[in-house]
Amino acid sequence: MMVLGIESSCDETSASLVQDGKIILSNVIHSQLIHQQYGGVVPELAARDHLNRVSQVTEEALVRGRIGFADVDLIAVTNRPGLAGALLVGYSYAQGLSLSLGIPLIPVNHVSGHIYTAFLKRPDIQLPLVALAVSGGHTSLFYMDRDHKISLLGQTLDDAAGEAFDKCAKMMGLGYPGGPLIERQAGANKIKPVKFPRALLGQDSLDFSFSGLKTAVLNHLQNRGQSDVSDGELSSICAGFQEAVFDVLTEKLRRAAVLTNCRTLAVVGGVASNQALREKMVSFGRQEGREMIIPNPVLCTDNAAMIACCGYHLYRNSSDKHFEYKVSARAIWPKYQTS
Ligand code: KG4
Ligand code: ZN
Repeated sequence: MMVLGIESSCDETSASLVQDGKIILSNVIHSQLIHQQYGGVVPELAARDHLNRVSQVTEEALVRGRIGFADVDLIAVTNRPGLAGALLVGYSYAQGLSLSLGIPLIPVNHVSGHIYTAFLKRPDIQLPLVALAVSGGHTSLFYMDRDHKISLLGQTLDDAAGEAFDKCAKMMGLGYPGGPLIERQAGANKIKPVKFPRALLGQDSLDFSFSGLKTAVLNHLQNRGQSDVSDGELSSICAGFQEAVFDVLTEKLRRAAVLTNCRTLAVVGGVASNQALREKMVSFGRQEGREMIIPNPVLCTDNAAMIACCGYHLYRNSSDKHFEYKVSARAIWPKYQTS
C-alpha cells in the first residue's frame, strides 16, 4: 500500500511517500527559517508559510518517489496536536486531495507519528514497546501493546525537554532552535560540565519536570554575570544542562522498562537527534539487556514519513475506513488517544 503523508503541525512542511509502512520512497522536509529572527515559532507566519509550500512540497515528494497521484492508495495527515492555523493548512490540503482524487484520508496524531518512527527503523519490531517521545512540544513515556494500542505512562508536568533546550539557548544568546546549538556548544571546548539538579519527582514517578533546571541555568548565568560568560563557560553550562536532561530521561525510561517488563525500547522525537543522548541510550540499552531503537536523526525531527507510517498501521488495524468526515484539525489534544 502506497501512503502519502503530510505534516504541517509546527514549523516543518513535509510530504512523504512510504510503501507498506516501511519503505521510504521520498521524504521532503521544508524547515521554516523565518522564525529564527524571533527566537521561537510565530504561529501566524508558520501557517502562511505552510500555505505557500504545501502543494510544492507534495509535488516534490511525488517526483522524488517517481510516482503519480494515481498510485497513491491512502493519504495520512497530521490533524492534532499542534498550531491551529498550521494544522489547518495541511489538513485542508489533504482533505482537498482526498476528495478530488477519491483517495481515502486518515488523520494522524503527531505524537503517534513520532512513536511510529521506531517502525521505520525496525519494521519487524517486537511489541510490546516502551517509547520515550522527547521533542519541543512533548516529553512523554508510552506503552504500545501487541495490538498497537498506545497508553500514556508519564509526561512532563511543565516544559518539554526540547522546550527547555530552546529556552536555555535563548537565555545564553545562542539562537533558535536551541537543541542543535546547545549540542554544538557543549562539544566545542574540553571542559568540566556544570552540575545542575535532576528532578526525579519521587521514587516511582514516570513524570518529568524541567522548569527547575531551566531556573538553575538562569540563576547560574545571573550569578556569573551574563555578559562575562566566556566561550568555555558557555560550553560547561551547555554540557551540564544536557547531562542533567539526559540523566533524567534515562532514569525515567529505565523505570518504565522495569515497571512494564518490556524488552523493546525506543527514543523518538527531535531531541533524539542529539548525538550525546543517542550514545547514552545505546549504552543504557546494552547495559540493561534491552533492545534500544533510535531512528535516524532526520526521522527524529518533524517529518511526514512518520505520519505516513503511522497512517498505514492505523488504517490496516481499523475496521472503519471512513475517517475524513468525522474530524477536523485540533490544536489541543489533552488526553492522549490514538483514535
Ligand atoms: O520533534 P520536533 O522536530 O518537533 C516537535 O514535535 O516539537 O522537535 C523539535 C525540538 C526542538 O525543541 C529542538 O530544540 C529539539 O527538538 N532538538 C534537539 C536537537 N535537535 C532538535 N534537542 C537537543 N539536541 C538536538 N540535536
Ligand atoms: Zn514533533
